[in-house]
Amino acid sequence: MRRLIIFCLTFFSILTLAPASYAADVENGKIVFKRCAACHNADKPDNRIGPTLQGIIGRRAGTLQGYRYSPAMVNAGQNGLIWNRETLITYLHNPQGMVKGTRMASIRLNNDSDIDDLIAYLNSVLPVPDKK
Ligand code: HEC
Repeated sequence: MRRLIIFCLTFFSILTLAPASYAADVENGKIVFKRCAACHNADKPDNRIGPTLQGIIGRRAGTLQGYRYSPAMVNAGQNGLIWNRETLITYLHNPQGMVKGTRMASIRLNNDSDIDDLIAYLNSVLPVPDKK
């Protein structure tokens, strides 16, 4: 019985300590990025099927030199869409819902803390390529 109590105490203290150690987690961000990696680079300026996400934070949508965006993404940028935490959360929850007609269709991320980790990862692999 005593061992059971000690077990329970240890178990619950681990549970309560775990969230305290949570902050944007670059390692998890790297794992989340695997869902993007088929189409995007993060640590190189080269574009793949999608534009590189290196330096994406603070970039105006649809403006990376040398990448052919859909008219929808170019318009979104001209209408003021800048990539930051809030706009990425909205976009990644439903790309077509935010930028109707974007060629990035099939991917959805619904967990905001995963998106925070992803942003931390993206910020960790700068330098930033040239912007238009
Ligand atoms: C199946 C391929 C594919 C996957 C997977 C994918 N994307 Fe994309 N992404 C694209 C394409 C293609 C575009 C260009 C869209 C356009 O021009 O309309 C794009 C555009 C973007 C843009 C806008 C970039 C800019 O310069 O304006 C962001 C931000 C983005 N993707 C983030 C992500 C993230 C984060 C993930 C992973 C969670 C992801 N994408 C997964 C294909 C993909």
